Amino acid sequence: MMEDLSLHVLDIAENSIAAGATLIIVTINESRKRNLLTLRVADNGRGMSRAELRRARDPFFTTKEKRTGLGLPLLAQTAEQCGGGLTITTRPGKGTRVEARFFYRHIDRPPLTNMRGTMMALVFGHPEIDFRYRHRRDGRIFAFASRRFIPARLAAGGLAPETIGRVRRHLGAGLRRIGTT
Ligand SMILES: Nc1ncnc2c1ncn2[C@@H]1O[C@H](COP(=O)(O)OP(=O)(O)O)[C@@H](O)[C@H]1O
Ligand SMILES: [Mg+2]
Repeated sequence: MMEDLSLHVLDIAENSIAAGATLIIVTINESRKRNLLTLRVADNGRGMSRAELRRARDPFFTTKEKRTGLGLPLLAQTAEQCGGGLTITTRPGKGTRVEARFFYRHIDRPPLTNMRGTMMALVFGHPEIDFRYRHRRDGRIFAFASRRFIPARLAAGGLAPETIGRVRRHLGAGLRRIGTT
């Protein structure tokens, strides 16, 4: 199975959406100097109880018939294989933060691949959600806020057709500028 890290980001953010989040903050840090890659998704969704958190990390349990998508246990396993790990911080009624760390140059580390595709799928799949995305690669930073392109008052109505192209170009140019994809 293709297990690019951008697909994991999509998968973790889909959990935030399922948890009723209205604000989702995606943060990626790539530091070649420190040999570290970190992904983080923070949301203001319903959060998890201790029991739910324990189950969320259990590869043999899901609240659904079948795990949809890649799932947290696979992300945890991949991160651990790459000398890092997964940390989930959550508060019922407040939100959740999922952070995965990898050695940047670990032989088993999946490539990041397509953060533009992930952010496009999130933003246009859920225009009502306030998405913030900050990607740092070595010294360079790209920051994106969906509300700049889709104001809250427009999210419910139809999107202007040119909005999709504008966001795609903005993400493409920003990610190219910092030297990632
Ligand atoms: N951001 C989140 N907020 C609240 N609950 C979450 C969040 N992420 C994961 N969970 C809980 O953990 C479970 C496991 O997530 P996951 O491994 O992605 O599998 P799936 O989404 O298919 O159930 C979810 O079903 C949900 O109950
Ligand atoms: Mg999921």
